[in-house]
Amino acid sequence: MLGSNCRVRLDLANGDSALYPVKKLGSLMRQMGYSKPALLGNTVKGTGYVPLKVEIARRAVHYGCNISTDDILITNGCIEAISLSLRATTQPGDVVAVESPCYFVLLQMLHNLNLRVIEVEAGQEGYVNVAKLNGLFQRKAVQVFLTLCNINNPLGKSIPNEQKAYIARQADENDVVIIEDDIFGDTAFGERRPFPMRAFSPNAILCSGFSKTVAPGIRIGWVHSVNYMRKIASLKYTSTMGTSVLSQAAVAELLRSGGYDAHLRKLRRELARQISAMLQSVLREFPAGTRVSDPEVGYVLWVEMPAQALNVRALFLKARNAGIGIAPGHMFATDQRYDHCFRLNAGFGWNDEVEQAIRQLAQWCQLSLTEPQD
Ligand SMILES: Cc1ncc(COP(=O)(O)O)c(C=O)c1O
Repeated sequence: MLGSNCRVRLDLANGDSALYPVKKLGSLMRQMGYSKPALLGNTVKGTGYVPLKVEIARRAVHYGCNISTDDILITNGCIEAISLSLRATTQPGDVVAVESPCYFVLLQMLHNLNLRVIEVEAGQEGYVNVAKLNGLFQRKAVQVFLTLCNINNPLGKSIPNEQKAYIARQADENDVVIIEDDIFGDTAFGERRPFPMRAFSPNAILCSGFSKTVAPGIRIGWVHSVNYMRKIASLKYTSTMGTSVLSQAAVAELLRSGGYDAHLRKLRRELARQISAMLQSVLREFPAGTRVSDPEVGYVLWVEMPAQALNVRALFLKARNAGIGIAPGHMFATDQRYDHCFRLNAGFGWNDEVEQAIRQLAQWCQLSLTEPQD
């Protein structure tokens, strides 16, 4: 998938560059590169550019987290933040609970770190089955709960606050470490940005970043932990040492200058519009019985075909050959349970080409339901 040259990018979980303030960011980088040559000329030391950490801590207050800049480390994207957090809190062979379906990069990461995984399926509401999760905690069956509790990828739902508070309390009581990936939290289209788990327990490790809100290519993420910061900082030092300071400075300035909130409002509106257009089209075009998620926004839709008839691997290959990228369901689990599902990305706008691609996928799905599978 990474190497394929798709015309219609329904496989990713981000958007067209027109969605992001990339011109502003480019101009900030140019200005700062000239006016502060030390940003590029000096050795990268410490856990990150302090003005960026100040902005992150300032914004965190609005979503219920009072965090010290000493407990924040800037990373190369949110993925590095999660990887460092897992390495700091686990030993090979430990067991990690994840929400199912689970963002496939996390499953691959757990595999590469020699961690075992227990997948806890979402209930009807679209978020993790809390009773099952709690059972695992109480039986001491897992060491870590790795969660996308806000705008889950791929289901697009957030765990309600009362449930988050309950999960956080149970995790603390049973010595389970919570690591949360809150990368989509700022894209939630509601009256209030949803709180992360960290708002309910100081022990939760909070990972996030700016790839889904500021620019997918900027590669600036961060991790906050009260208990594991020394270990995380040591692991960062011996893996990627530091994160580009010029990029950090440009993001810091964007946040500081006040344009970020206005940009977020626009981004959320646009994503909600694009998601809604794609959702309507899937409901219209796909065979009866197809189920589709109703995300609180973010970028993606999760499509579930009727019965187990769909061979999603075959659909993926057919689509790729026609220049249409989709994220096939089998990547979101360690077994076959999502072989009749796939994820679609609405981030690249709603236009004739995308509409036509949805129609084409729907036709193939219809055929796969009427033809015998090989
Ligand atoms: C849930 C989730 N976490 C993390 C990432 C990657 O974050 P970053 O690009 O900041 O490393 C993605 C990208 O799609 C994602 O969907």
